[in-house]
Amino acid sequence: MFNVILRLIATGAYFLGVAMITRLIVGADFAIVVVIASALFMVGFHAISAYRLKNWMNDLRLDNAPELSGWWDELGSRIYRNLKTYHRQQQLLSNSLLAFRNAAQALPDGVITINKENQINWCNETAEAQLGLRSPRDNGQVITNLIRDPDFVAFIKAKSTEKSALIKSPKNSRQILALQRVNYGEDQMLILTRDVTDREKLEHMRRDFVANVSHELKTPLTVLLGFLETVQEIDLPPEQEKKYLTLMLEQGGRMRTLIDDLLTLSSLEANISTGNDETIFCDKLMDRLKTDALALSDGHHKIQFEVTPNLNLRGREAEITSAFSNLISNAVRYTPEGGAISVKWFTAENGDLHFDVKDSGIGILPLHIPRLTERFYRVDRSRSRETGGTGLGLAIVKHVLTRHNGQLEIKSEFGYGSTFSAVLPASRRAPASN
Ligand SMILES: Nc1ncnc2c1ncn2[C@@H]1O[C@H](COP(=O)(O)OP(=O)(O)O)[C@@H](O)[C@H]1O
Ligand SMILES: [Mg+2]
Repeated sequence: MFNVILRLIATGAYFLGVAMITRLIVGADFAIVVVIASALFMVGFHAISAYRLKNWMNDLRLDNAPELSGWWDELGSRIYRNLKTYHRQQQLLSNSLLAFRNAAQALPDGVITINKENQINWCNETAEAQLGLRSPRDNGQVITNLIRDPDFVAFIKAKSTEKSALIKSPKNSRQILALQRVNYGEDQMLILTRDVTDREKLEHMRRDFVANVSHELKTPLTVLLGFLETVQEIDLPPEQEKKYLTLMLEQGGRMRTLIDDLLTLSSLEANISTGNDETIFCDKLMDRLKTDALALSDGHHKIQFEVTPNLNLRGREAEITSAFSNLISNAVRYTPEGGAISVKWFTAENGDLHFDVKDSGIGILPLHIPRLTERFYRVDRSRSRETGGTGLGLAIVKHVLTRHNGQLEIKSEFGYGSTFSAVLPASRRAPASN
C-alpha cells in the first residue's frame, strides 16, 4: 500500500515537473498540450498492459506470459512465480498419484475402490480381468449392476459384517476368487480380489484323498473284524476256521499293500530320495520282471518279452522296478484269460528309451485315459479291488517317470487292449556293461 502511494506521488510529481518545465520553456498553452499528451500516453500504456495481462489470464500458461514493464511487470512476475509454484505442486501431486496407481496396478491381486453408493472409482487390470470390469469405462457405475452374482451382491451389501467371501469369477466359472473388503475414509471401500482356484483345488484334492484312504482301509477292516467276531463267537469246524483265517490274511494283505503304496507315493511326492542314480542293468531287471509276470499270470496269458540286450538305464533301481512291474501287473490283471501280453524294451528312432507293455485286454474308453494317473482313479472299482489293485499304481508310475525326466504314454482301444509306454529320454541311457 505504501508502495502504491509512493508511486502515485511520484507520478503526480512527474506531471507537475513536466508542466512547470514546459511552461518555462514554451509557455502555458503548449504546456497544457504536453501534459494532456503525456497523460494520454500513460493511460494508453496502462490500458495495453492491463489488456495483455487479461489475455494471459484466459489460459494462464507459463510459456504464454506477456512482456510487461514497470509496475505491471512486477505484478506479472508475481503471478508468474505463484503459477510456477502451483504447477510444480500439481506435478508432484500427480506424480505421486501416478506412482500409487502404478503400484496398485502392479499388485498381483485385483483392487477396486468404490464409494458409499457402491459406485466404482477405480480398478486395476487384475480386477478387470477377474471380474470382467473396464476402467475408466465403468467408473461411476454401481458395481452390483455390473456384477450380479448373488454371493457378490450379498458381500457388497453386508456393509459391516462379512469382510471376506469366496465367489466364482463372473468371467470364468472355473476360477474361484477370494474377496476381501477394507473400509477407509468416509464410507469408501477397497475390494481386494485374489485367484484362489489352485488353493481350493488342492484343498478339494486333500479332502478327497483323506476320504478315499479312509474308505479303502475301512472296507478290508470291516471284513476282517467280521471274520474275527465270527471266529471268536462261534465254534467252527477246523476246515471252516482255516478258510476264514485265509480270507482274513487276504484282507490284511490288502491293507498292507495299500499302506505300502501310500508310503511309496508320499515319499515320491515329498521328493524324498530313495538312493542316488545308479546304473540299472536292464537285462537282469527284465529277467526278474518276466519271472514275476509269469508267476502273476499263472499260465493264464501268453506272455512275450522282447528286450534289446545291454540297454541300460541311469536311475533309481527300486523306483524303476516298481514302475515297470506296476505296468506289467496291470496288463495281467486287466487281460482276460487266454489274452496276450507283450513287453518291449528298446530305443526309439529319436533316441528315447521305451518300456512298452501291450495287452489284448479289456481296453479303456478315451474319456478315462487322461485321469488314470490320478490317485484312486479306477475305471472299474470292483474289478480293480478283486484283482488286488489299490488305484495308486499309475500315480506311482507317473511320479517315478517324472523324477526320471520321462513320461507315461497310454494308447487304448476299448474292448481290444491297451499299450502303456514308459518313455525315458536318451540322457538316461547308461553305458553297456562291456
Ligand atoms: N492294462 C490296462 N487295461 C485296462 N485298464 C487298465 C490297465 N491298466 C490300468 N487300467 C485302468 O486304470 C486304473 C488305474 O490303474 P492303477 O493306478 O494301476 O490302479 P489299480 O490298482 O486299480 O490297478 C485301473 O483301475 C484300471 O481301470
Ligand atoms: Mg495297478
